[in-house]
Amino acid sequence: MAHRAAPSSAPRHIAIIMDGNGRWATRRGLPRVAGHREGARAVRRTVEAAIEQGIGWLTLFAFSSENWRRPAEEVTDLTGLLRHYLRSELNELAEAGVRLRVIGERDRFGPAVQQELADAEVRTEANTTLNLVIALSYGARAEIAAAARRIAEAAKAGRLEPASIDEAGFAAHLATAGMPDPDLVIRTSGEQRLSNFLLWQAAYAELIFDDVLWPDFGAANLAGAIAEYTRRERRFGARPAHTGAARPEASR
Ligand code: FPP
Repeated sequence: MAHRAAPSSAPRHIAIIMDGNGRWATRRGLPRVAGHREGARAVRRTVEAAIEQGIGWLTLFAFSSENWRRPAEEVTDLTGLLRHYLRSELNELAEAGVRLRVIGERDRFGPAVQQELADAEVRTEANTTLNLVIALSYGARAEIAAAARRIAEAAKAGRLEPASIDEAGFAAHLATAGMPDPDLVIRTSGEQRLSNFLLWQAAYAELIFDDVLWPDFGAANLAGAIAEYTRRERRFGARPAHTGAARPEASR
């Protein structure tokens, strides 16, 4: 996988809400799992394209905390696909310099899945070409509530002064601590919602909604979204680098 340096106006961190697997399958008279399987192929294409485009961070919303409410069979299919993806792609991801991380309530998965996720993270932790973040059993409100809980516990134990808690200090308790905020959030399948994805982190992100169903997403869609992001950047001018600070009035 070739790697080229990104122009400075390119997004550093792209987050994607991968939507439309079910509809892709239904339109073809196939079971939903066929859509998820094809969705996993789109993940592979997108990771390759992100490396090719020189993107430093890619976060994929693979499983929301609400997805547990889907029929047990679909949950099993999704978990199985994820494990299959990890097993079949990890060598190649590691060789391509991808660092894999997982955010979300991973303890809701079984011990074997948790172990595989942890092993993949450890195995790739020295890699720097692309940071691939997989959001699994992830929900932003739960993440923010957990951060508030940790802060309250630290304050109660006398380890933290409540008056010292600011935006950066709060963000340091989120699952994404140490990661740059997403510059661009893409959602596929024509839906125009954030659906509890990175609510804190995407405060200033550009949002791009693409009608393509996730299984059909590929390098051209990613390049199109990056081009649109770059056009918007040019129109709105400079904005502060990823500090979490408020944007100046003019570029809001
Ligand atoms: C949304 O489509 C997609 C998901 C809930 C799961 C995304 C999972 C994958 C792409 C496969 C495995 C993931 C990785 C990281 C290898 P939907 O089922 O909500 O579609 P619909 O809205 O058309 O029903």
